[in-house]
Parts: sequence; structure tokens; C-alpha cells
Amino acid sequence: MERVNTVLVIARLDADWSALVDLLSERQGYRVLTAAAESDALQLAHDVHIDLTIAEDGNKEFDGCALLAGLRLSHPDVMRVLVLAKSSRLSARALREASLYQYLRKPLDVEQAALVVARGLETRELARRHRLIAREFKMTDSGSEIANQHHMSFQAQAQSQRFEKLVYVSEKMSTLCDLAKTAARTDLPILIQGETGTGKELLARAIHYNSSRKTSPLLVQNCGGMNDELLQSELFGHRRGAYTGAVSDRLGLFRAADGGTVFLDEISDVSQSFQVSLLRFLQEGEVKPLGSDQTTQSNVRIIAASNRPLAHLVSRGEFRRDLYYRLKGFEFEVPTLRERTEDIAALAEFFAAKHSEATGRKILGLSASLIEKLSHYDFPGNIRELENEIRRLVVLTGDGEYLTTRHLSPAVQSAMKRQPADRSNGFTPKGVTLKDQVESLERHLVEKTLHRHRWNQSKAADELGLSRVGLANKIRRYGLNQEGPHER
Ligand SMILES: Nc1ncnc2c1ncn2[C@@H]1O[C@H](COP(=O)(O)OP(=O)(O)O)[C@@H](O)[C@H]1O
Ligand SMILES: [Mg+2]
Repeated sequence: MERVNTVLVIARLDADWSALVDLLSERQGYRVLTAAAESDALQLAHDVHIDLTIAEDGNKEFDGCALLAGLRLSHPDVMRVLVLAKSSRLSARALREASLYQYLRKPLDVEQAALVVARGLETRELARRHRLIAREFKMTDSGSEIANQHHMSFQAQAQSQRFEKLVYVSEKMSTLCDLAKTAARTDLPILIQGETGTGKELLARAIHYNSSRKTSPLLVQNCGGMNDELLQSELFGHRRGAYTGAVSDRLGLFRAADGGTVFLDEISDVSQSFQVSLLRFLQEGEVKPLGSDQTTQSNVRIIAASNRPLAHLVSRGEFRRDLYYRLKGFEFEVPTLRERTEDIAALAEFFAAKHSEATGRKILGLSASLIEKLSHYDFPGNIRELENEIRRLVVLTGDGEYLTTRHLSPAVQSAMKRQPADRSNGFTPKGVTLKDQVESLERHLVEKTLHRHRWNQSKAADELGLSRVGLANKIRRYGLNQEGPHER
């Protein structure tokens, strides 16, 4: 899969900046996103994978240098370029904190800026490859336990895939993300279902930023626990005086997001009457603010999410069938983490890197036993719970150490190895080699059968399909006797 570099331009787009944006996207083929305010820039950095950002300093709305310094902490692997105002001076300290790749000075020389961006991205790619090779070298160089631990965690990340901010290795997520990329290119509504913490919102964001609507807003409304009037006015807007407390006109999300996407979270919670309004909006694309008799058109794509299965609510008559069908132009069921335990190692690695970089901790990696423990746990809170767990471990682990099972929360700590549901009734064979395990299982089955038949050897031999002599041999071989310890 070819990866297109993403460049975030943080500036008020005057003629020079617009020329740069065109040049970067059309001639150099980057994906270019723009933000004119600090909050937009931070939101984008949260939602989308960004490779390089070029920010304007001396902007009235924000301090570009400080913004880049903040971004360095939250997203350390984004390359940073600053464009200084003509005569502005920056302290050495401010420059150091932002740890810039380069800075330029206004008036903006568009060709020069484009060149700096291109070279910056090359440097970043080289650094990335260097890191990979260096790690690989270290691994093959030494056979120590540490190197093995490193090897294990490194492998998980090396094989992981990305869809914007989603990290995964499992077949399930891979199929889901491929379909999501296809869905993103259409304009159909999307319904995302799945337990809480599985990544529904992250998927919605990824879809928006892979759609033709990506340069228009993505606005989010949580529909849970909202009364009708409030929800109506948030989404459709209201006129001043439409109800007590409506002291001024309000635009409403559906119009504010015109050309973009509205993400409706916890859609299962909305009332019947709101369902009617929403259905009408989906059919007509018309917005009528509360207290107004004028309608306006708005073109938004709806992505809805629910952690309760809507089909079930429809069959119970609690959710309108026609709305359900309207919403699910595409339908995604994000699997729980316990249904894709292959993702646990890659995600744990990703969160460890993310939080150690954000807090400045120098963590060496994850121990193999930690990854094993994590993969035995059920994660009722899914990925959100895994991230919280890793964040805590990072904070409690010293520089130059590995994350281990030591500080795991009690729930994870006491997770038991998953039992294979086979005929041995939850018995886990001992030993490493196949021969040892087979013998251990054989011993267990012989002993259990004898026990059940109160040591009547003929009956036990019959049940096991052995001759009496054969059974006697096994009893001798394994040193079994009537009083012996029974493994249940
Ligand atoms: N595949 C993933 N890769 C990386 N982070 C993820 C992934 N899925 C979820 N997360 C993170 O887990 C948390 C919960 O995800 P969110 O999208 O809010 O879940 P939901 O909306 O289903 O409750 C967020 O912090 C999100 O960034
Ligand atoms: Mg959510």
C-alpha cells in the first residue's frame, strides 16, 4: 500500500499560503490539511496521522512557536517547520522547546518552503528506516532474554497496520478497515456498532478524513442523556426566544457542518420524536431551526454510532425501522478486543510508545510475560481499558526499564490463561515438548477414568479401549495408585 504523506498547514491562508498549499498538494502530491486556529490544529493532530506540520508565527490567534512546542510533546514524531514574521525575534529557549526541523522567514518564498517540506519528509523517512534497522541489528546481535523481549514487542509493531489513528494486525480489523476505506469514498450514511471503547469514534474520524469532505468540518454530537429540546436545538439550531433560555440565535451542528460530516454518538438513546426529525433530515436535507418557519438546505454526511444493537431495538419497537435502514448505508460492527486478541500486543506497544514519549519516560519495551498476561485478560472496557492500563504502567516504570506485569491492576493480574474447550475438560497439559504434553494428558485421563470407576480396572480399561495388561502397564509407568493425588 502506497503511503501518502500528510502535511498540516497552520496559518491564515493569504495568497502566499494558498499558493503553497496548492503546490504541496498538486505538484508534490501530499495530502494537505489546513487549520487557522489552534484548537483546529490540535483536533486534527488528534484525529489524523500527520507527518509534517508547517506553522505560521505571529498569527493573532495563537503563538506558532508555542503551538509547535506543545505538539512536540503530544505528537513527537511530527516534523515541525515554523515560518517567522518578517522582523520577529524568538528566544533561543522558545526555539529549543519547539525543536524545529527548520524555520523560514516571511515574506514566504513558496518554492523554498515546498523544498524544505520535501526534504523534511525525506529526513523523517530516513530516520524511521534507521531506527528499524538499528533495532533489528540489536536483536540479531544478542541472544539475551532482553533481546528476546525486545524482539517480541518489536515484531508486533512492525507487522501492524494503520488506518489513520487506528492500529491493528488482526484479520478482522483489516477487513473492516478495507471496507471502511471504500465506504469513506461514497456519500452514504454509516452506522458503527460495537461495545464501548472498541474505537467507534476513531473509526468515524478516519472515515471522515478519508472522504471528499475532509477539508470541511467533522462535528460530534453525543445523543446520550440529552433531552429532546436540547438535542433539537444543538443539531437544528434555534431562533432567539424559541424557548426559555434561548437568548440568541443558534446555528446548529447540521448547518455548521455543511459540506462535512456529523458524528452522532449513542444514537440508540434518542426519543421517538427526535427519530422522526432525523429521518426527515436524512430524506430531505432540510434544516428548520426551532422557533423558525424557514428551512435551509444543508449537505452533511451522517455517521451514527451505538453500543446497543439497533436491530434488537427495532425488533422491540424502540427504534424506527425506516430510520435504521436509512442510517445503515454501510454498517460496521467493531469487534471487541477479546475477539481479536492478536491486536493486544500491537496496541500495547503503540500505547507504550505514545505515553512514554508524551511523558518523557525512556521505556525499553514490554516484557514477554506482560504481553502474555494482557492477552489472557477479557478487557470489558476494550481498547480504552488497555490504554489506561498501559498509561499507568508507563508512569510507574522507571527510565531504562521494561514494562512488566508488576504494576498491573488486580483484574488483569488475576486473568487466567484461556482454556481450550476440548475433551480434557479444561485440563492443561504440562511440559513443553509434544511428547511431554501427550504423556501428561494421558496420565490425567487414565487417572480420571480409574477414579470414576472406583479403580475397577476392567471397566476403566474398557472405557479407555485398552487391554487389562495395557492399563496395568500405564498404571505402573505413571506410578498411579488409589490414594494418589487426583487432578480432578
Ligand atoms: N485501533 C485502535 N488503535 C489505536 N487506538 C485506538 C484504537 N481503537 C480505539 N483506540 C483508542 O481507544 C479509546 C477509545 O476509542 P473510541 O473511539 O472513543 O471508542 P468508542 O467510541 O467505541 O467508545 C480512544 O482513546 C481511542 O483513541
Ligand atoms: Mg465513544
